[in-house]
Amino acid sequence: MPQAQARAVLPVVLLGCGGVGRHLLRHIVSCRPLHANQGVAIRVVGVADSSSLLVADDVRASGLDDALLNDLCSAKSAGSPLSSLLARGHCQVFNKPEAMGKVIDAATMLGRTTGLVIVDCSATYDTVGVLKDAVDHGCCVVLANKKPLTCAYEDFKKLTSHFRQIRFESTVCTSY
Ligand SMILES: NC(=O)c1ccc[n+]([C@@H]2O[C@H](COP(=O)([O-])OP(=O)(O)OC[C@H]3O[C@@H](n4cnc5c(N)ncnc54)[C@H](OP(=O)(O)O)[C@@H]3O)[C@@H](O)[C@H]2O)c1
Repeated sequence: MPQAQARAVLPVVLLGCGGVGRHLLRHIVSCRPLHANQGVAIRVVGVADSSSLLVADDVRASGLDDALLNDLCSAKSAGSPLSSLLARGHCQVFNKPEAMGKVIDAATMLGRTTGLVIVDCSATYDTVGVLKDAVDHGCCVVLANKKPLTCAYEDFKKLTSHFRQIRFESTVCTSY
């Protein structure tokens, strides 16, 4: 059957590929037919963990392919580093501190052209700087990680300065 042409391509960079980040990646891959029906293609162009960033060779043209994303999930589950996927080709690995600079490069390239969504599934305050820069470059930010929202008030104001560009949810539980 001919594939429907995607009306919208949505490039994504994922920060954090622990339990939540991996589930998101698997969900994106398994929902491709649903996305296609909606005319949307989610293009995962980069995935970062605490020490490195795996990024597509040319983030303007393509993302990490689905087989690679599945292998990435398996590798991280097994405790292997992102660099173990380098042999697959069509991707590069940058280690800290260069890695976050490369996320900003992608944000600069894509934020005001195709658009770029930065999804924070880490569990750290360390992403605040890159998220603020991404918002400045016109990117959208989606947070599973709530720490960036509980940082300094100036940072919170910056992150939420364009409210259409940020999405988050949280659950509050009180026990007596
Ligand atoms: N688990 C849940 O049910 C749940 C539900 C809702 C929301 N959340 C929130 O979702 C977030 C992720 O939860 P999780 O259970 O997936 O946590 P997790 O398993 O601890 O995974 C955290 C991931 O973040 C990576 N990371 C750490 N510092 C980073 C940095 N500076 N840049 C990029 N990545 C970095 C870690 O890298 P390494 O792999 O190298 O350690 C790891 O891959 C948390 O903020 C949590 O509060 C969790």
